[in-house]
Amino acid sequence: MIYLCSNNANSEVHMIMSPIQSALKKIYERHKENFGGAIASYIPELKKANPSHFGISLATVDGMIYEVGETRENFTLQSISKVFVYGMALADHGINHVLDYVGVEPHGDSFNSIIFNPLNNRPFNPMVNSGAISTTSLIKGDNKEHRLKRILEMFSSFMGHQALIDEKVFESERVTGNRNRAIAYLELSNDAICPPIDEHLELYFKQCSVLGNARDLAVMAATIAADGINPLTKERAQKAEHIHRILSIMQSCGMYDYSGSWMYHVGLPAKSGVSGGIMAVVPGLLGIGIYSPLLDERGNSVRGIAACRDFSREFNLHIFCSSPPVSSVIRRHYTGDQIWSKRLRNKKELEILRTRAHEIHVYELQGDLFFSSVEQICRNFSLTKEKISYVIFDGKHVSRIDKSSLGLIYDLKKMLDQQNIKLFIAGNNSFFFKVLKKEFGKVLEEHTFIPSIDQALQWCEDELIASSGLIKSEEETLPLDNFDIAQDLDATEIEVVKNIITPIDFGENAYIVKEGDEASEIFMLAKGLLDVFLLSDQKEKIRIASIGPGNTFGELGLFYGKKRTADIIAQEKSTCYVLPLSRFESLADTNPVIHGKLLRNVGRILSDRLRQADQEIRILSH
Ligand code: DON
Repeated sequence: MIYLCSNNANSEVHMIMSPIQSALKKIYERHKENFGGAIASYIPELKKANPSHFGISLATVDGMIYEVGETRENFTLQSISKVFVYGMALADHGINHVLDYVGVEPHGDSFNSIIFNPLNNRPFNPMVNSGAISTTSLIKGDNKEHRLKRILEMFSSFMGHQALIDEKVFESERVTGNRNRAIAYLELSNDAICPPIDEHLELYFKQCSVLGNARDLAVMAATIAADGINPLTKERAQKAEHIHRILSIMQSCGMYDYSGSWMYHVGLPAKSGVSGGIMAVVPGLLGIGIYSPLLDERGNSVRGIAACRDFSREFNLHIFCSSPPVSSVIRRHYTGDQIWSKRLRNKKELEILRTRAHEIHVYELQGDLFFSSVEQICRNFSLTKEKISYVIFDGKHVSRIDKSSLGLIYDLKKMLDQQNIKLFIAGNNSFFFKVLKKEFGKVLEEHTFIPSIDQALQWCEDELIASSGLIKSEEETLPLDNFDIAQDLDATEIEVVKNIITPIDFGENAYIVKEGDEASEIFMLAKGLLDVFLLSDQKEKIRIASIGPGNTFGELGLFYGKKRTADIIAQEKSTCYVLPLSRFESLADTNPVIHGKLLRNVGRILSDRLRQADQEIRILSH
């Protein structure tokens, strides 16, 4: 048995960290022991199928493939071929000519019915044998060989590889296909088909004997879902103008006399075949291919129907539940080395973050979350080769989430946990945050839900720093020579600066700086943690940054000495070295070398922050 998920025809990623994959696996496990039904025997060669074979594959319109079970087991397409040959007849002649020979009405009879539409003596539709034989008769070509070559080329372009015929199955059907022969001659007597009848029959038996597997079916269905473009080869297999006609026929007639119940319960245009294949299309999004040869009394795969029912119900795929098209669900993705938290950090901390912050991944999500958009989110983690330690989801721009998507996000969280990857849901005002918290707040760790991306980034950075062995001493007051502002000062110069600064302690919640105050000193945080707040338009305080030990702040006062532009408040007991501007200015006369070095260092600190801000603007502006 294989469980696969891949995004390339040639590479198989044996990587199962995907909630989509595990959802398929659950459905597979649920039905694999169902041995109800029987293998088709009216074509003797089909009897050789293995009743335990069961494979489910999904292909997205952009080429992602999921597979569970015996998805590479080949079988003959049988009636599934009718869909594609019908598309070919439409391309060869246009709809009016084809409609002259084959109708588009469903009827409640079996696939090998000999009942014709009493109004015109034409086959009811191209999905029953009579209609399919008429359709095949319309395929153009110079002779039998040329027509067959064209049919095989058409199948090859839908599959994305060379289509082959199972000659034994063909021979077996040719020898025993008297009912189809009778149907074709009956049609001849009604002028619903033109000679040469035996040639058409041979081509029909050949198209039914084309080999494919569940994965091929998923790709073929995804090609229809993608308006005729094969998602693997990116080549056009069918004219876009006929896709909606093909889907209409599949929708009304694809599952024979079960088509009504199928639409009611599963709600997807589909087609089945007597060898056990079912192919279903989620227009614009997905193709589904299933193989299991045990059939019900109508000739449809028992496990195939059950799996499709579950899949459609669990992920809300019924076409009348109207999934919106997937625009990009990931509005923005960046890593922690591209955008840092707004915590001012000291040199040692920054060194650690420079080597490890790329392990933090932020995803800003947008639009509607439903099966296909969440699939796009999940595949990032299934296929990535990057090192991921933290994932932050921000759902500020998410407008809708269906229940199945909530479940998939929960499963994703659990899978990430197993890989020691922490997932955070950021943005406490968003609808996305609120719904997830309501559903899973009690079962997930509290820190999963975090008010803002910035706080989540800080959390992850703190953990990266702590895990790298840098111990944050609660007691230590950082000596002056550890500050960026003191860079390049020798020991005597440090002593000079020490004499003009004063260490001041601040209690928890104390204001160090108040918006509007005169800017008359520079601060160096030696111990503790500070928050920087701005007043919002609604006069609410918003925290825009925080400051850790080793950092200088208030330095803009050096240059224009005006009013403070923000509040800075101690988050915990803190100590600052305070350098009054008057003393700093008098250094220019008493010790111009030190004055110059301090100024240069402040310039360097500010330009580093500016460079970081530029980088953020660049990332956030696209
Ligand atoms: O014509 C036939 O009987 C077969 N070659 C195909 C029938 C078929 O697949 C009907 N499916 N449920």
